[in-house]
Amino acid sequence: MDKKILKDIDVAGKKVLVRVDFNVPMEAGEVADDTRLRAALPTIEYLIEEGAKVILMSHLGRPGGKVDSELRLDPVAKRLANLLNQAVTKTDETVGEEPQTAIERMETGEVLLLENTRFNPGEKANDPDFARQLGELADVYVNDAFGATHRAHASTAGVVEYVQEAAMGFLVQNELKMISQAIDNPDTPLVAIIGGAKVSDKIGVIESLLNKADALLIGGGMANTFIAAQGYNIGDSLVEADKLDLAKRLMEEAKNKGVNLVLPSDVVVADDFSNQAETKVVKVEDIEDGWQALDIGPESINSFTQVLKDAKTVVWNGPLGVFEMSNFAKGTMEIVQVLADLEATTIIGGGDSAAAVEKAGLAAEMTHISTGGGASLQLLEGKTLPGVEALDDRE
Ligand code: 3PG
Repeated sequence: MDKKILKDIDVAGKKVLVRVDFNVPMEAGEVADDTRLRAALPTIEYLIEEGAKVILMSHLGRPGGKVDSELRLDPVAKRLANLLNQAVTKTDETVGEEPQTAIERMETGEVLLLENTRFNPGEKANDPDFARQLGELADVYVNDAFGATHRAHASTAGVVEYVQEAAMGFLVQNELKMISQAIDNPDTPLVAIIGGAKVSDKIGVIESLLNKADALLIGGGMANTFIAAQGYNIGDSLVEADKLDLAKRLMEEAKNKGVNLVLPSDVVVADDFSNQAETKVVKVEDIEDGWQALDIGPESINSFTQVLKDAKTVVWNGPLGVFEMSNFAKGTMEIVQVLADLEATTIIGGGDSAAAVEKAGLAAEMTHISTGGGASLQLLEGKTLPGVEALDDRE
């Protein structure tokens, strides 16, 4: 790792500005899932123990550069205070006099949370003036917001110009290590499971994995486009008609590279996009008009399982069916169970796949569950992350 890490810098007595990803689901004004808060605790607790003044900042939602009272971070500060078992001061502004004064009053070991960075239009624009105002609040900057490291925003990238030192926190360090190792230096066979609604979201990932994985299992809505590209009728299933040639090319590429590309051989079809719809299991060659594929079928679950059994490393991104609806959750949930039973290293991308593992109650059985959806996808694509690139190089 060529970028500075938290342990490389002396933080004692310093004002340390930490970008965290507290973009958490909210329900009735309360934090509905505190996974991302808990994931940031090792860095925050380390800074407290080392005697730093801990200034946290995060975005929440997409307020579009203006104040949205629903997206204030007060409930987040409250939950964080519970988790840390110590007071967390929350400011109503992100930059300017109010936070400056609050920071001046801080003692070492205290924690403060700035208001939602995205209330300022300069955040997403990576505006140098906003980045400077953030940087001037502190001596040192730590990026521990893995879920936002794929964004080149003022608080994730621009701010680095305006502090003395910039390093990654423990969460970012661990995410990079786990995901990079799994795709760049894995115990083989490496099997990738790619699902989700659209091929267009995952083209880069599939292309990159065709150079790295021994087998690629494709499910979810995106499998329909591959099924159609094989010449089968897909009825009323979601399909990207403009991606058929691409799907053919990817299948060809897999063959040429000796990658075992496994597509569903049967699917669960429904006569409506609804959990109340009539359903049946059919072979992919027998999908009729008026029916849409919403999950992989038992034969496909079985063929996926056979490939997974030999895997030493598994990376998974995207559900294999519409798992939010119980009648189309079986494919995703059975594969979660298969992964839980494997001896292999299992790396779960953030977002929906992480939610499926949580829903199954099997999170503890996985090697690593990423806190970042878009960020982990970008790593699987072999791309760099602007929030990491911006940090100081290690000496
Ligand atoms: C996420 O939840 O994936 C991150 O916090 C990034 O949020 P964004 O997609 O709104 O930039």
